[in-house]
Amino acid sequence: MKLLVIGSGGREHALAWRLLQSPRVEHVFVAPGNGGTAVLQGTSNVALTDPAALAAFVKSEGIALTVVGPEAPLAQGVVDVFRAEGLKIFGPTRAAAQLESSKDFAKAFMVRHDIPTAIYQTFTDPLAAHAYIEAQGAPIVIKADGLAAGKGVVVAMTPHEAHEAVDAMLGDGSLGAAGARVVIEECLLGEEASFIVLCDGKHILPLATSQDHKRLGDGDLGPNTGGMGAYSPAPVVTPLIHQRIMREVIEPTIHGMESDGIPFTGFLYAGIMIGEGQDETRPIKVLEFNCRMGDPETQPIMMRVRSDLLEVFEHAVDQTLDQARIDWDPRTALGVVMASADYPSTPRLGDAITHIPEPEADCVVFHAGTTLKDGVLRTSGGRVLCVTALADTVRATQKRVYEVVDAIEFDGAQFRRDIGWRALEPR
Ligand code: AMP
Ligand code: GLY
Repeated sequence: MKLLVIGSGGREHALAWRLLQSPRVEHVFVAPGNGGTAVLQGTSNVALTDPAALAAFVKSEGIALTVVGPEAPLAQGVVDVFRAEGLKIFGPTRAAAQLESSKDFAKAFMVRHDIPTAIYQTFTDPLAAHAYIEAQGAPIVIKADGLAAGKGVVVAMTPHEAHEAVDAMLGDGSLGAAGARVVIEECLLGEEASFIVLCDGKHILPLATSQDHKRLGDGDLGPNTGGMGAYSPAPVVTPLIHQRIMREVIEPTIHGMESDGIPFTGFLYAGIMIGEGQDETRPIKVLEFNCRMGDPETQPIMMRVRSDLLEVFEHAVDQTLDQARIDWDPRTALGVVMASADYPSTPRLGDAITHIPEPEADCVVFHAGTTLKDGVLRTSGGRVLCVTALADTVRATQKRVYEVVDAIEFDGAQFRRDIGWRALEPR
């Protein structure tokens, strides 16, 4: 069977790598792919991004099933285009993808369906936004309504920062159309977790839990990034918290989308803030919805999948997810992102990368921003690699990962030394 994975990041490399282990998978095309998927045995890159061109390619190659990695093609309607052609694809329609592509849509949806989230208001008028900030005070969070590739959220510690963010988005148009409308919301405190499920419109299959590290620097300091590392499972999501997230967030979301006439198919990622307190009562609030898997969360999650992933996706597109199950490796998987010089502001590209080891059962280096030119692997994006390993304890996994991270070389490489630190804190 031939498959297509749409996207070019570490997430897509990890999905393709895991799908290739399914005995029925003969080849995985990745569009557009990266330097890692270019050399992975059994994959090839396809230089296409336009949904109609991708659908034509799928037909001409006889590709059985397509999985979409990133949000942009979903918001463009790639799923609608494929379905109109009778092609099997796993992801949300353009309408359902609004849970991620419009923060205002997501917030209004959550309020309508009683799903816990931060108090908010939406603005297009800068004067009204400034007045709201004055009335609420800081800390306060300013979010561009539209997709902004991880640059759309400002957690403002002072009113001054909040006013500046409003001026940049609504006044100067710093984020273009994505920032022409902003959501201003209450700043939530607590510990974040990434809760990702598969959904076929009716049935829900949760993936293993995980935790991302959004800040560039150790100790969660420095600017926000797309994510500097992740691990799975996340101990903060105890069995009781898991049950509560399913009951208080995931089920009402899927049922709410269905009753609103926009059934949700695809990956649903709820970024959850878990407040202080006992598990029975501690607040659980949605920070954001994404309509895709997380990056880098996917890399450790894929390391832990022991079942045939193709079978799971087949159930998902055939609306029989109630018959699917995933067997998880009980060990901890942990991925450390290696980013290019000057990421996240103005990542430097083109540096040669050396000393990437061959994949092993317990350690794989997933590529994100890499490209292979004339036989030389070079950096081509902000997040370059995600070194991911599996071991019995968080400490042992860190040790294994950092041995490999320390061996890999490219100029200006940035990475955190403390991925997984929350799992080592006493609880
Ligand atoms: P988002 O793109 O909405 O996930 O926001 C990116 C990051 O900003 C989140 O992962 C949080 O770390 C932070 N964030 C977003 N909303 C809030 C909030 N209401 N309170 C505190 N932090 C937030
Ligand atoms: N790692 C966070 C995200 O993919 O949105």
